[in-house]
Amino acid sequence: MEKIRNFSIIAHIDHGKSTLADRMLQLTRTVDERDYQDQMLDDMDLERERGITIKSHAIQMRYEKDGVDYKLNLIDTPGHVDFSYEVSRSIAACEGALLIVDATQGIQAQTISNLYMAIEHDLEIIPVVNKIDLPNAMIDEVKDQIVDMVGCERDDIIEASGKTGQNIELILEAIIDKVPHPVGDEKAPLQCLIFDSVFNSYRGIIAYFKIVNGTLHKGDKVKFVNTGHEYNADEIGILGMGMKPTKELSAGDVGYIISGIKTSKEVKVGDTITHVENPCDKAISGFEDVKPMVFAGIYPVDADDYEDLRASIEKLQLNDASLTFEPESSAALGFGFRCGFLGLLHMEIIQERLDREFDMDVITTVPNVSYNVYTKDQEVFEVHNPSGLPEATAIDYIEEPFITAQIITHADYIGPIMSLCIDKRGELKNQIFLTGNRVEITFQMPLAEIVFDFYDKLKSASRGYASFDYHTSGYRQAKLVKLDILLNSESVDALSTLIHADNAYDLGRKMCIKLKELIPRQQFDVAIQAAIGAKIIARETVKAVRKDVTAKCYGGDITRKRKLLEKQKKGKKRMRQVGNVEVPQKAFLAVLKLD
Ligand code: GTP
Repeated sequence: MEKIRNFSIIAHIDHGKSTLADRMLQLTRTVDERDYQDQMLDDMDLERERGITIKSHAIQMRYEKDGVDYKLNLIDTPGHVDFSYEVSRSIAACEGALLIVDATQGIQAQTISNLYMAIEHDLEIIPVVNKIDLPNAMIDEVKDQIVDMVGCERDDIIEASGKTGQNIELILEAIIDKVPHPVGDEKAPLQCLIFDSVFNSYRGIIAYFKIVNGTLHKGDKVKFVNTGHEYNADEIGILGMGMKPTKELSAGDVGYIISGIKTSKEVKVGDTITHVENPCDKAISGFEDVKPMVFAGIYPVDADDYEDLRASIEKLQLNDASLTFEPESSAALGFGFRCGFLGLLHMEIIQERLDREFDMDVITTVPNVSYNVYTKDQEVFEVHNPSGLPEATAIDYIEEPFITAQIITHADYIGPIMSLCIDKRGELKNQIFLTGNRVEITFQMPLAEIVFDFYDKLKSASRGYASFDYHTSGYRQAKLVKLDILLNSESVDALSTLIHADNAYDLGRKMCIKLKELIPRQQFDVAIQAAIGAKIIARETVKAVRKDVTAKCYGGDITRKRKLLEKQKKGKKRMRQVGNVEVPQKAFLAVLKLD
């Protein structure tokens, strides 16, 4: 155990975590030069393209120092707020963390939130100023920020560049010298913390864990404490660039287990693995059942693809237990699914994976958060969809989820950011000046306001100089109304939203204007109306046009005519017939694009 170091890397998005990890893998010869590819740890195509780490992974490196061979387990963590529970479990499996700060950017919101998490778990922090090769690196200023935040000595901060590989050895040696080795009792009853799982189409679910206490052998009968399921440890092993089976793993080790688990729902990140015989007294603390926070309807563009869509979502769920879905139907869109996501980025990723990996053409409806509805008959239920709301007269009150939002920005942008947050029903909780002219602002805000267009607005309010992070902080009572959109007097359920009463008029008006832009002119006038209950609050009209696309062919060339019609048909693919009106897919997300 003395020769093991378990560590993670915490950093704000794009501060260079993956690049630095790549350099460490190269230097320790964990990967063959021949197999080398940028960003080895991001093995999903989408991750590589977007340059973000979505799922966390683990990898073991070997490094020799003073003649001693050390095992360094790097537990990679996803950087985005949507996945912060996964970050917390990966951090719980470590004894130390590299804190990477981009020398041109300084400390950002996620650096801080992840750092707090690491400090809470008593991790040894090794601070690194990265990207020192860049001409605009502000090494001294960023070091000041780090000393302020971490309370470390200035000399403890390593200056490095993932790009040139400068000082990567120093980082590896600091990990060995400073990060404490894991402590645990190899002879105690087995206690393993699951910090991640992946789906493999040949092997089923593979769970990644760290052994906190005890010893696990291949073939042991094990139990997952929180789910209560029992399995046979068919294969256990360590994670190198691939899986390396072993016969035995013990306290302090990080490894994987394959045990005939079929779906990701059976494996919960944060759960504890123990033996069926001689089990541990209690599970490792901190387990949470992650709950989706954002919901949206996903419908096939072509109604015939409904079953294919179901099969595709089921497959995605096999390796992403945080995705939930249930069938729903919409008068406008037909049969589809109500899906639950951890956040907006998660939703985008799922949508893109459906398109890329499964070639599914889908329409996604306006996302909303989940509400607690209290009825006058003392009933309470969760509503994930505006159409699931009971009659207004039956409702006693509604609660909506709130978040604590942390924003770090330059002092120059405090004004516009404050107005934005207040506009979004935020309440200022705290404002702290960090080093230089940087400020940390903390707001309490309704999650629903973030789901709409908060990121984009924050970016423009701060000219890109603001970073943002949040965590959920319970539910609060809210004055919400259901805003309906009618096209030629027919209510389009897929366009309904739940909105705070104070903002309903404004939203209704903007929705009508936006839809007028998005809905193409048709053979007849299209009336677009916004309504609360029976009351119409806004109206726009798309004027009729009489256009025959084939008219310009002078009736002559029939093949040309056919081609043109074919083309028109294709263009229609992302259109939906709602009553007699053709509505393009974009219109269903109009609410996200309002000014
Ligand atoms: P997430 O996985 O999204 O959190 O990003 P990351 O922190 O892993 O950042 P990544 O390693 O993908 O680096 C972000 C960008 O910075 C990439 O374009 C890298 O090429 C660049 N980069 C990383 N390290 C350095 C460095 O030391 N110097 C320079 N000049 N560029 C770097």
